[in-house]
Formats: sequence, structure tokens, C-alpha cells
Amino acid sequence: MNKLNITVCMGSSCFARGNSQNLEFIENYIKENGLEAQIDLAGARCEGKCATGPNIVINGTEYHEVDEDKLKEILASYK
Ligand code: FES
Repeated sequence: MNKLNITVCMGSSCFARGNSQNLEFIENYIKENGLEAQIDLAGARCEGKCATGPNIVINGTEYHEVDEDKLKEILASYK
């Protein structure tokens, strides 16, 4: 797996609409798969794109309306 930089929007809209759970899911995914060295996880402030949130950026690619199912697909695509 290439190194991944994952940025989770922690603005109040994204956070309330799913990024709270998405963040937990990613943290567990990292732990369960021992990916601490491969994945850099960071939080971001609201970037004014709340309408399409919850937003997550991975290696510069923006993902919108992210939920757990979508997250599973996205992470699998980077394997
Ligand atoms: S809260 Fe995420 S873009 Fe505004």
C-alpha cells in the first residue's frame, strides 16, 4: 500500500453529519490492519463545502457524502 494522507473535515457540519463515526472507523481500520506507518490521519477545519459533506480528502482527492460503506470502498481501492 502506498502511503496515504487522510484528512477528515472536523468542522461542525461534517463532524455532526458523519465524520465523527468516519474518523472512528478509520482509526479502527488503521489499528486492525497495523497501518500506523502507512496512513497519516489528520483533521481539517471547515472548508466551506459543508453542503456536500461529510468530506474526506485522501492524497489530494476529495470525497464527499462519505459514510461507512463508501469509506470501505474507498479504502479498499487504495490497497
Ligand atoms: S464542516 Fe466540513 S466543509 Fe464545512
